[in-house]
Amino acid sequence: MNVLVTGGTGYIGSHTCVSLLQAGHSVVIVDNLSNSSRETLEQIESITGEEVMFYENDVTDEKTMDEIFTHHSFDGVIHFAGFKAVGESVNLPSKYYRNNLLSTIVLADLCLKHNVEKFVFSSSATVYGENASPMVESMELLPTTNPYGETKAMSERILSDISKANPNFHVSLLRYFNPVGAHESGLIGESPNGIPNNLMPYVTQVAKGIREKLSVFGDDYDTVDGSGVRDYVHVMDLAEGHIAALEHLEEGVRVYNLGTGKGTSVLELVEAFEQVNQVPVPYDIVQRRPGDLATCFADASKAENELGWTAKRGIQDMCRDAWNYQSRSSQEALSENER
Ligand SMILES: NC(=O)c1ccc[n+]([C@@H]2O[C@H](COP(=O)([O-])OP(=O)(O)OC[C@H]3O[C@@H](n4cnc5c(N)ncnc54)[C@H](O)[C@@H]3O)[C@@H](O)[C@H]2O)c1
Repeated sequence: MNVLVTGGTGYIGSHTCVSLLQAGHSVVIVDNLSNSSRETLEQIESITGEEVMFYENDVTDEKTMDEIFTHHSFDGVIHFAGFKAVGESVNLPSKYYRNNLLSTIVLADLCLKHNVEKFVFSSSATVYGENASPMVESMELLPTTNPYGETKAMSERILSDISKANPNFHVSLLRYFNPVGAHESGLIGESPNGIPNNLMPYVTQVAKGIREKLSVFGDDYDTVDGSGVRDYVHVMDLAEGHIAALEHLEEGVRVYNLGTGKGTSVLELVEAFEQVNQVPVPYDIVQRRPGDLATCFADASKAENELGWTAKRGIQDMCRDAWNYQSRSSQEALSENER
């Protein structure tokens, strides 16, 4: 297949491009580099030995996107492009609604115009809101606590409505749990700008001495050791989940959880990281963060039954690969003010 990957130089997009190319598909990336760099493109090419067509372009710009759709004949679109910082979305909601919703609508309309029938969308477990775990695809979605989460729930509805009205437009909504880790080469991985929002990049930065200590938000939840429990999934497993979703997408709207089905607590993850990599990760227990759930993990059986996809890599692999990537990076320790 010839696949348009939006946000393809980002964290999950870059790993998915590697998997697509290695599975024999061709890839065209569109990314405005608002949260990634051109260097990633070279790394994708160096891992795969394949050339990748790249457009530095904003997906919300319908005119230039139309030209790209006219120039290439796509068999499918994987739409990763979007903003993802939960806290920022609370302070700058219109930035999130504009980018995340408009990009989805522009792409869906261009798919209809250019007869592109397969659309895979990056959704999130956040759409389950405060449902109890394990989260199952058939659950009624509950309100999320922030505009970012709302853009995911709304995008799911928009794409479902467009598919219902256009029987040749097939959509796979992939609800990611907690993607972590990096490609085993250490050439691509997660390198957030500023203070990491997610646990693993924070852990790797503390281990490298870039930040002083990890803050563990709460140790009094009703969980195995009091810290929050999440379903961490290796980014290469996640990447392979996209190929399975794309290759199985034949009609209508499909919804799949991409997780391992197992919960790991923050403290368990820190301990696994220290053991696997033999590096200390100093931490402090601080107050709970508003809006955080005690426990969130997937029922991962639907993706296994319908797509033949399961996560193969475990917590040790995730910790090893995340550290391998961070150890190779040239990022330096931060000054007192930057921490
Ligand atoms: N990483 C996670 O924990 C997680 C969890 C659930 C869902 N998701 C979703 O998965 C997708 C990919 O996440 P990621 O972690 O790789 O994020 P990322 O920020 O690393 O990648 C997103 C990419 O999209 C690009 N981009 C943003 N807006 C754009 C626009 N208008 N036009 C063109 N390019 C644009 C950015 O430059 C970046 O390269 C996002 O939609 C995110 O919301 C991520």
